[in-house]
Amino acid sequence: MHRKIRKAVIPAAGFGTRMLPATKSIPKELLTIVDRPILDYIVAEAFASGIEHVVIVTGRMKSAIEDHFDHAFELDVSLRKGGKHAVADRLAKDTPGVGAVSFVRQQEARGLGHAIWSARHIVGDEPFAVLLPDMLMVAGEPCLKSMTGIYDRNGGNVIAVEKCRPEDAHKFGIVSLKPTGNGPLVNGLVEKPAPGTAPTNFFISGRYILQPEIFALLENQEPGAGGEIQLTDALVSLMGMQEIRPFEFAGQTFDCGSPAGFVGANLHMAMQRADIAEAIGHQIDALSMLARPGMGSKAA
Ligand code: UTP
Repeated sequence: MHRKIRKAVIPAAGFGTRMLPATKSIPKELLTIVDRPILDYIVAEAFASGIEHVVIVTGRMKSAIEDHFDHAFELDVSLRKGGKHAVADRLAKDTPGVGAVSFVRQQEARGLGHAIWSARHIVGDEPFAVLLPDMLMVAGEPCLKSMTGIYDRNGGNVIAVEKCRPEDAHKFGIVSLKPTGNGPLVNGLVEKPAPGTAPTNFFISGRYILQPEIFALLENQEPGAGGEIQLTDALVSLMGMQEIRPFEFAGQTFDCGSPAGFVGANLHMAMQRADIAEAIGHQIDALSMLARPGMGSKAA
């Protein structure tokens, strides 16, 4: 019997430079997909996957994140006074229970690995999940829930991977895999391989289940790419000690930390909403008649 995955770490202390100027004073993680902050979707995925305690790593200029997960007493009173009970009930339902979310500060944005290490005392000596809050992963069953299924059967570590076009492999962290009698294991990780050299076209996506030994590796990890403490470097060391299984995610992923992914996520999620899908559809139809920058003429 493997120890249950009870805790999830959500690193949210980065600068979000790809989304400037929006992220100059608003945390990237609170930018909205339709009318819900991105982080709300990620926290909801964690709880829907059986997580009991979410640890959000924040930093300077990110205190709005803590307020978002608090009970907004005055707002609740005001909404109910105005008869808006359905809205107040929805807000209450979406607010995690007392003690279910903790916050820890990463005093310096020294990289994803360092952000995860900042949560070590709250996680303690047990396996845990990591969800990257800018990766919105949409599927019938939440990505992390599918991963906990693999973990429950095998233990060890699990990372979500996705297939990219071979010609795009140089943009991602790519895994190599070795077959075993019990499914493939990750046996190599290479960040942004030179074009044509990638061992597979499976890239590491935004969800992980990790054993607590990763913390000691992160503690001693030298800065890697970009001068930052990288999770992938620590995973390479972990691979020599423990099994890492891939979970191939087959849903849709939006990198909401980039303008194109962010807009794509908004369109996708809006089209899933019965109350606005039709209106958005009309707007998309109207837009498709317009010229796009750089195309010179009207799109067909
Ligand atoms: P990203 O590299 O996507 O986020 O890290 P970023 O650094 O904020 O974005 P850009 O590249 O400048 O646009 C993935 C996740 O890790 C968190 C980020 O907040 C993001 O959610 N992160 C990154 C930290 O918490 N601390 C860090 O030092 C770096």
